[in-house]
Amino acid sequence: GVTRHYKFNIELHNVTRLCHTKTIPTVNGKFPGPRIVAREGDRVVIKVVNNVSNNVSIHWHGVRQLMSGWADGPAYVTQCPIQSGQSYVYNFTIIGQRGTLLWHAHSSWLRATLYGPIVILPIKNSSYPFPKPHKEVPIIFGEWWNANTETVIEQALQTGGGPNVSDAYTINGFPGPTYNCSANGTFKLKVKPGKTYLLRIINAAVNDDLFFSISNHTFTIVEADAVYVKPFETGVLLITPGQTTNVLLKTKPNPTNTTFLMAARPYFTGQGTFDNSTVVGILEYKFPSKKSFNSSIASLQIPTLPPINGTSFVANFSNKFRSLANAQFPANVPQTVDKKFFFTVGLGSNPCPRNQTCQGPNGTKFAASINNISFTTPTTALLQAYFSSQSNGVYTSDFPSYPIMPFNYTGTPPNNTMVANGTKVMVLPFNTTVEVVLQDTSILGAESHPLHLHGYNFFVVDPQNFNLVDPVERNTIGVPSGGWAAIRFRADNPGVWVMHCHFEVHFSWGLKMAWIVLNGNLPNQKLPPPPSDLPKC
Ligand code: C2O
Repeated sequence: GVTRHYKFNIELHNVTRLCHTKTIPTVNGKFPGPRIVAREGDRVVIKVVNNVSNNVSIHWHGVRQLMSGWADGPAYVTQCPIQSGQSYVYNFTIIGQRGTLLWHAHSSWLRATLYGPIVILPIKNSSYPFPKPHKEVPIIFGEWWNANTETVIEQALQTGGGPNVSDAYTINGFPGPTYNCSANGTFKLKVKPGKTYLLRIINAAVNDDLFFSISNHTFTIVEADAVYVKPFETGVLLITPGQTTNVLLKTKPNPTNTTFLMAARPYFTGQGTFDNSTVVGILEYKFPSKKSFNSSIASLQIPTLPPINGTSFVANFSNKFRSLANAQFPANVPQTVDKKFFFTVGLGSNPCPRNQTCQGPNGTKFAASINNISFTTPTTALLQAYFSSQSNGVYTSDFPSYPIMPFNYTGTPPNNTMVANGTKVMVLPFNTTVEVVLQDTSILGAESHPLHLHGYNFFVVDPQNFNLVDPVERNTIGVPSGGWAAIRFRADNPGVWVMHCHFEVHFSWGLKMAWIVLNGNLPNQKLPPPPSDLPKC
């Protein structure tokens, strides 16, 4: 591979959406941010210079970071954030991955505006396991607030209640015609008739799973989280924050119209408030001759999407994903497991401080937890503490795990919804094969949780049937509301790796934990020392 250099200047930029101009942190003045393009096997070197007043770090979501944990990016996990006026060089090699991923800020809620695509092309002279597309187009969903998102989350954490919901969803940064004064800001995908397009779809929204569809067209899903899957066709797809998926879109040879609408809107099963709006974009045919049909956008049909709480669609759709699992792209599913864990994920609460009124459940503060531990962010980075053997006062290695289900969450919710707080990690010997059965507790609000693991892909083995042949390999899995998921992975990447809900609000409330994967005995399994420019806290 080659080395590809990028420079990310984090700088303020004025952006107008919904008739509202806001000064937002951007990368190089772009919103959404620039795309990183590399081939499998390439080294990527990105110098991030922080020219805003916030502390910032950037995460290369889904990049495995084999032996390069210092470049992973989550603030206070693998690095202290980059302070204003400082810079840090992220340096990693893309090994064994091809497809679409994303990068985003990984401190506070800065990822609301700091995000962009990562496009990983196959190794030179190799091809896709599907017909070569005529063109490739990233489609990245986001969420827009008229207010400053840092203020939104700070207020929520202070009052203990749910944060204000977003004002719009966006496709490639554009809210489109269903929103107030946004008709001129609409994403348009221009296509030719009778061709195949590869859409690289990314959900960078902050707090919402999204359905997506294009009127009168279908998608063939070919990849998920930068791993090929057995192709399948669908009219609608669901994508959780942190997930990416490549789909083939075959355009009509003889379309009866010039324009068709595409739309995305949330999937939500909880009880709280959420942004219940729909973002619309345009698929526009360019004909070789001048002929085109006259149709106003208002006369076009918004594609039919499942109901907001369309759980059965989601279960059915998720079940269709299977690894390609052929000779060239095998699915290396651990057939046996050294360690089995049972983790609950869900919401809970923390006591309201004296002399304060809190807007969370029953006057408490909202919290979220894994195995009832709500993660307390340390003030130095876990990886630094681990590497220098100075865990004292930073973390403890007593993350709880139950061999069996502690109690039945599917019945009446318990009266006590209080969580415990702490910076607890789970330590794994190098190369341990791990199974985690995840249960969504739904104690407070039956919401699904898109759980994301850093440093690894895992296999989603169905908790009922334990498919060990061709389970889908991903980095983010939607644990269904009130339901179960089971994952397996081999702990072959030493370092400190956070696992968390990719709804930013749940992340802020503590739905996260960290694994420490120990070094092996061989020199190539020893963590390299931290780069000299690693930010200080
Ligand atoms: Cu996409 Cu820890 O994040």
